[in-house]
Formats: sequence, C-alpha cells, structure tokens
Amino acid sequence: MINRVKGTYDILPDEIKKWQRLEEVIRNIAKLFNFDEIRTPIFESTELFHRSVGESTDIVKKETYSFKDRGDRMNTLRPEGTAGVVRAVIENKLYSNPSMPLKVYYNGPMFRYERPQKGRQRQFHQFGAEIIGAKSPLADIEIINFAATFLKALGIGDNVVKINSLGDRESKENYQSALLEYLKPNIEHFCSDCKRRYLENPLRVLDCKVDKENPYLVNSPKPIDYLSDSARIHFDQVIMGLDSIGLVYEIDKFLVRGLDYYTHTVFEIESNLATLGAQSTLVGGGRYDNLIQSLDGPDLAAVGFAFGLERLVLALDAKEEIQEPFIHCFFINLTDFINNNSLEIINNLRHGGLIVEYDFLNRNLKSQFKQADRLNPIFYLIYGDEEANKRVCRVKRRDNGEQLEVPLENLYQYLVRSITSNNCSSGDCSGCSGC
Ligand code: HAM
Repeated sequence: MINRVKGTYDILPDEIKKWQRLEEVIRNIAKLFNFDEIRTPIFESTELFHRSVGESTDIVKKETYSFKDRGDRMNTLRPEGTAGVVRAVIENKLYSNPSMPLKVYYNGPMFRYERPQKGRQRQFHQFGAEIIGAKSPLADIEIINFAATFLKALGIGDNVVKINSLGDRESKENYQSALLEYLKPNIEHFCSDCKRRYLENPLRVLDCKVDKENPYLVNSPKPIDYLSDSARIHFDQVIMGLDSIGLVYEIDKFLVRGLDYYTHTVFEIESNLATLGAQSTLVGGGRYDNLIQSLDGPDLAAVGFAFGLERLVLALDAKEEIQEPFIHCFFINLTDFINNNSLEIINNLRHGGLIVEYDFLNRNLKSQFKQADRLNPIFYLIYGDEEANKRVCRVKRRDNGEQLEVPLENLYQYLVRSITSNNCSSGDCSGCSGC
C-alpha cells in the first residue's frame, strides 16, 4: 500500500463542511473589506523566496521543497503566499491600475519541510491578504481589523492580538547594531540555535522559544526602543486607529516574525484554546515597505497577513458548533426505481434546489430508513406502486413522524413551504404570505 507523504493529510468528506464554511466566510469578509481574490502558481523560481523571505531564515534554509525541472531551472513549492503575490503584481504591472492601493486575498496550499505535529504540517493552507501601494497607517489598521473581523465572523474568540514595530530601514539598522553590541559579550548564555542566529540573523534571537525566560534575553535591547521619529509616529497612529475601533491588542516588544521582509508594524493573533497546543498562532503579518523594490519593482509600500487554515479548523473543532450534516429529503423506494417515475420526481425536486438522496444498493425498507437517518433528512419521501397509481407521494416528517399523502404535482411546493415555515424565526405564520 502506498501511504500519504509525512506531514500531508487527506481532508475527508466528514471534515469538508468546516473547510467549506471557512472558505465561505473568507469570501464574505473579503467582500466586506473590498479585497479581490488573486491566484498565483504553487511553485515559483527558487530565487524569489531567497530574495524575499530571506536566505538566512529557517524557512529558506531548512524548510523549502526545491527541485530542478527538466530544463535545469531551480523551482520551489511556495512556502508562503506574499512573495508570489508581489511577483505577480510586478510582472503584471498591477500597480499601474488607477484604483490603487491594490487589495487582494488568496487561499491555497503552502509547503514547508517542518517537523509535523498538531497544527503544523508540511502541506498546509493559508488564507492571506495584502494591501499593496499604501504607506498610510490606515492600511495597517485595515489589515489588522480584517484579520480580527474574520475571526469574529467565525466565532473564534479567546485570542490575543500581539503587535510590535520594527521601524523603517534606519530604525532596523540602528537596532541591529545595538543588538549585536549587546549580544557579543553575552552570547555564550544563549542556546545553540541563538548562537547561530547571532551570526546569521540576530533579530531572530528575540523570539527564541528556548531562551524565552533567559534574563539575558529579557534584558536585551528591543526594536521598539530604536524607532526613528517617523517610524514612531507611524506606529503611534496605528495604535490610535486600533483604539478608535475598540480593537484590543497587546504590545509585544519581543515580536519580530520569522521572515526577513518586515518593516514597521508586525502582528500576530494567538489563540488561548488548549486544542491548538504549541501551535497557537492563528495569523501572522505585518508591513513590508522595501520588498517590492528589492524584487525590482517600483517603490511601493505594502502590508498583509496570512492565517493557517488547519489551526482555524482546530479552533472551530473546539467550539463543537458545526451543524450536523443534513439533507432535505430521503426518497424511500418501495418498488422498481428505474421503471417508475421516481428518478423524474427526484430530479424535479433537485432542480428546484432541494437536497435529495436515495438508495443505490437495493436495500430493504428497514435499511433504507436506517441509511436515511444517517443523513439526517427533514422528510422521508415514500413512494411505491400504490402511490404511483394514485399519483401521490407519502411525505413523513422525521422530527415528529407526521405523515401525509401529497399529490405529485404539489409535492415540490409543499416541501418548500414546510421547510420555510419550519425555519421561520417568528413562529407566527398568521400574516405571512410565504408559508
Ligand atoms: P507566517 O507566520 O510564516 O507568515 O505564516 C502565517 C501563518 O501560517 C502562521 O501563523 C500559521 O497559522 C500558518 N502556518 C505556518 N506554517 C505552518 C505549518 N507548517 N503548518 C500549518 N500552519 C502553518 C507568512 O507566511 C507571511 N507570508 C504572512 C504575511 C502576509 N505577511 C505579510 N503578508
């Protein structure tokens, strides 16, 4: 037997409802915030990720799936979505659109060779959004608000929004020198990974999980204390904007994020739900004002985020609120299906928008009811020779067992009316023409 590759998994029909719900909420909230969808290739030139995510990041150093194609070109399965979107914006000159800034979102599989565990896979899915071509702090506020509103729409609460600023290029350079100066005499007190990071990417020492409580780390210089005047004003305005919409956040001076392209605002939303275990970061994002130019595009500021959908599914599982799958009707057939008009009746109901299922395995009556119950129908439709002769269908409600013969020509109308009156929230049908 050939098994699935380590770190990948199948989304089986039982699970798919949650994914479809996520996809629906993504589309709805994106519409609300006026973001358009963009779809970019699942693989790109390897160089794109080296020059964007960064040569010294864990993602590029240890986690990419890269391969030479038959034309001897190095390609990489995308480990994240921002680089591909930026490449597409530059290549297709989307920045020349008069209705800038560009507001786009994407949803698709990403690939990282990480140690698999709950909430961390080698093939996983991200829903990301980017605003390209806006320097204003309003764009940072819009992006963070979009992410928080999305979680609210899913009913996923118990989160902490963590925010920090790395500042502009000048702030980052000043901070990097201060950090190096501090680490030089103290690096022996840090873990082995930090000793490596100190040489390759000192900023990453700050979010080391091993040294989290290490007093040498706790007392190290923080980026927010090295912001230039303009970077400080930008960050203050972001904070004021979040305050004005009542979005609760925590300033986390240690937050630096694992990708090299960030400038100014960085943020993450962490869940406190126990089901997420160690992988509790639902979304990460921030501003990347120098990335587009460094990939040979124009000087365009940008900001974005990406959610990990697997982690959202785990968070939804914790709520146990997903509705039971249901269908409108299960058609119980008492006679030869193909030679009477059963299929025609089913087809007419389906064309009218009702979900109808029936037995394919020639089950006896009792087993057909059993199969129906697994699918949770509102109605059983019972149809045999007697009903065919009388041109009626017996309709039995599953919830209260009420049964009635309905003429075939009224069947669709009858079912629709019963369903809508059933879902009516007022409970008072006296003046309602719909029922
Ligand atoms: P990231 O923090 O690398 O940022 O990933 C964003 C989210 O993807 C994480 O918070 C997590 O939920 C999910 N994620 C990452 N790796 C895995 C994995 N192996 N398994 C499951 N979920 C995972 C980015 O990717 C940036 N491109 C975000 C961004 C967009 N920044 C600006 N624009």
